[in-house]
Amino acid sequence: QKGGHKHFMIKEIFEQPKVIQDCLCGRLGTDLDEVRLPELDDLPGTPKRIHVVACGTSYHAGLWGMYLLEQWARIPVQVEIASEFRYRNPILDPDTLVIAISQSGETADTLAGIKLARSQGLKVLGLCNVVGSSVARESDAVLYTQAGPEISVASTKAMCSQLTALLLLALYWGHGNGNLDEKIHRDVVHGLRNLPDLLESTLPALRDKAHELARTFSDVNSFLYLGRGLHYPLALEGALKLKEISYIHAEGYAAGEMKHGPIALIDPKFPTFAIAPDDELFPKVKSNLVEVQARSGQIVALTNVGLDLDVPHRWDVPRATGPLSTFLALPALQLFAYEVADYLGKDVDQPRNLAKSVTVE
Ligand code: M6R
Repeated sequence: QKGGHKHFMIKEIFEQPKVIQDCLCGRLGTDLDEVRLPELDDLPGTPKRIHVVACGTSYHAGLWGMYLLEQWARIPVQVEIASEFRYRNPILDPDTLVIAISQSGETADTLAGIKLARSQGLKVLGLCNVVGSSVARESDAVLYTQAGPEISVASTKAMCSQLTALLLLALYWGHGNGNLDEKIHRDVVHGLRNLPDLLESTLPALRDKAHELARTFSDVNSFLYLGRGLHYPLALEGALKLKEISYIHAEGYAAGEMKHGPIALIDPKFPTFAIAPDDELFPKVKSNLVEVQARSGQIVALTNVGLDLDVPHRWDVPRATGPLSTFLALPALQLFAYEVADYLGKDVDQPRNLAKSVTVE
């Protein structure tokens, strides 16, 4: 069942190239230049506004999607934790599309968010992995994320599929409403087609590096994860993965917020894990890391070959087109958490106190 792997989690991390392929299947074939999403035919066209409702890892996926949907489709997006959304009496406009993201499709707070939105006349698009689940049944339209069954309590491949689906939505709406630059569209479509192979060939080296770093950092009590832009939600996700399976405290922060508090914590025993790929925000992240180093903080930095960054634990990953770099950074974060938890002998697939679907609020 585990396909020769020690845990479901590592099996599922290594399934991600196929997950991307399956999520693209029929939506962006080798013969298609445009994204096709017939699932959206039941909705009234490109939305004026989007409200994303989700929990945990699915919420982080939603935050990531916000950056792309706003940048490419110029649709205003608000992303909210479902348990907050459902109780705060939100002001909802009927022109707003609610996107409910849920791997299991059974998360109680997300379901309550869907019901609230629909009771006020809003349409709901479910982004869901489990066919026929409650989220799928309660939504007006469903985009299945096609990740296949996810057994490990810590969500990995499901997030990868949610990000792929959100990327397709941003391409689809951005191309459809003319806001997305043709060249970016072409380059990303091309990059997406090559992404499963690129990831497949990169995963073994990512695991080796994660294995090595896990031995250096498994005795720390706390980790700070930093990222900017698209990589800020990844920082949140990296921290969540580490804490849920290794029980090491970790905090995800927007790198620019460091000066507003967390910098006070930096010392040689409080390492920082930075996501610093080659994008327009790299110089900003780099200057945050200089501040960490000035306070003798240890740094692991996920970055790209050739970038000018002098940190003690540099982790170079291959370059990918624009936001596709996320699909290499995400498994690196997952693998680091996995290797730390495994090294510490934790119950990786069934961490204490956690359930795969949270069906009570
Ligand atoms: O099934 P869902 O996507 O609705 O689940 C949401 C969260 O409960 C889930 O992502 C949780 O945070 C995972 N344990 C993360 O690994």
